[in-house]
Amino acid sequence: MARIESLELRDIRKEFDGAAANDGISLTVRSGEVLALLGENGAGKTTLMNILYGLYAPDAGEILVNGARVRIAGPADAIRMGIGMVHQHFMLVGRHTVAENAALGLRGVPFLRPGAWVAGRIREFSKRYGMAVRPEAPVWQLSAGERQKVEILKALLKGAELLILDEPTSVLTDSEASELFAAVRRMTAEGKSVVFISHKLTEVLAVSTRIAVLRKGRLAGTVPAAGAGRAELARLMTGGDVISAAARGPRIAEDAGAPALAVEGLTVLGDLGPAAVSGLSFTLARGEILGVAGVSGNGQRELGEALAGLRPAEAGSLVVAGVDASGRSPRALRDLGMRHIPEERLRLGVVGSMSVADNAVLSCHRDPRFAKGPFLDRAAIRAHAQGIVDAYGIMTPSADARAGALSGGNIQKLILGRETEGTPAVIVASHPTCGLDIGAAEFVRSRLCAKAAQGSAVLLISEDLDEVLRLSDRVAVMFEGRFAAVLPNSGLDRGRVMLLMAGGGEAGRD
Ligand SMILES: Nc1ncnc2c1ncn2[C@@H]1O[C@H](COP(=O)(O)OP(=O)(O)O)[C@@H](O)[C@H]1O
Ligand SMILES: [Mg+2]
Repeated sequence: MARIESLELRDIRKEFDGAAANDGISLTVRSGEVLALLGENGAGKTTLMNILYGLYAPDAGEILVNGARVRIAGPADAIRMGIGMVHQHFMLVGRHTVAENAALGLRGVPFLRPGAWVAGRIREFSKRYGMAVRPEAPVWQLSAGERQKVEILKALLKGAELLILDEPTSVLTDSEASELFAAVRRMTAEGKSVVFISHKLTEVLAVSTRIAVLRKGRLAGTVPAAGAGRAELARLMTGGDVISAAARGPRIAEDAGAPALAVEGLTVLGDLGPAAVSGLSFTLARGEILGVAGVSGNGQRELGEALAGLRPAEAGSLVVAGVDASGRSPRALRDLGMRHIPEERLRLGVVGSMSVADNAVLSCHRDPRFAKGPFLDRAAIRAHAQGIVDAYGIMTPSADARAGALSGGNIQKLILGRETEGTPAVIVASHPTCGLDIGAAEFVRSRLCAKAAQGSAVLLISEDLDEVLRLSDRVAVMFEGRFAAVLPNSGLDRGRVMLLMAGGGEAGRD
């Protein structure tokens, strides 16, 4: 495979539904360099690289390899030219082994003992790049970090000279990330080039040689990594705009009574053992929206789950509307007025095999409204569910349809309808608009604001900084299990929030 000395994107444009995801982007990647593609969620990073990998055809613009114009009609063309890509969401076949997965789409596999040959090549490449994997392991047994190694090895075995890694560290532990960076350095030492997509300033500064910053589909700037300052990068990412809290309607008056939620010294372990939430303390007033901003993986999920009683707390106390709720079950917390819109909607939010109606009363079916003694009142449940379906415009053939058959947006509306019924004391909303189209997302936001206006306290956990800044009264920035800062949301500087999200500390060290 010929070396890719330079790869140039010229004036790339790509629209989705009339909106430009990429708008006149020009970039060059050279042999031996790590080009970081930095930008907030939705900036257009994945789209641009999907174009380079042949998954999308650009609406305008051209691609040049070593100075010659090329046409990349699909991933097969890209691979032939030496371009490899590891997606944010892996595409391995779970029941196959590492070697079998790597063999898929690989050329030059000998007819005799192909398995042994592929396994041998994997061992050779594993060693060369310092990425240990066992060729004979079935993929379903592997951790996310190991799967990623397999994806990278697969691309290298296919002859990738330019490797695109789309937010590779989002699934990695810190030590796995260091291992990945070491592998990336070995690749570039051989003259390969790497495009490293990320929205995390710290790792971008650690691994790349040049940084291209995308903002709202456009190239905001390209800077050498050496000497680049965090503040400058944050400004390029955000345009330096100062966002003030959008008027979200009247706030209820400052409440002198007990806070809706008081959390003291909360420590929660993550799936991997170490504390994901470390000694966190905060209070939430009635009618207040506290936004939790942060890069995912800094304890937000564990915080939400612990507040909902779905994950045990190692230490600390929880007081809901003046009542000690520490160590209570999800049901007991619910009875105290705690509601939860989970991040993993399909796994934790609904029971897919049950009907829309049954899901609408999930964990409150013993409510006297829906049960007479030991007997469920089917008609009352159905009527209640139909009320939610109508009020939220849920698209379903009927309240008896299987909840699992609904689209993501409609499942979210169903959960929202159930969890915001009445005026709960606290609503913990984890990434409530993630994956929704604009209309559904706006609807969800307006419901949360309406509940706050009625007196519910809302903890809004979101990776969407615009959403946090638009809805919240105060913004807590979560970093490594703690709130790096809790700031009143008026005239808040976006760049400052982003610095805190990246672990920049209050002083915004450079
Ligand atoms: N297949 C698609 N269909 C419609 N819109 C899309 C599609 N892919 C991306 N977009 C939109 O394009 C914009 C850029 O998205 P993306 O490239 O995924 O951003 P990033 O990777 O920087 O987070 C977003 O507004 C996104 O919603
Ligand atoms: Mg992306």
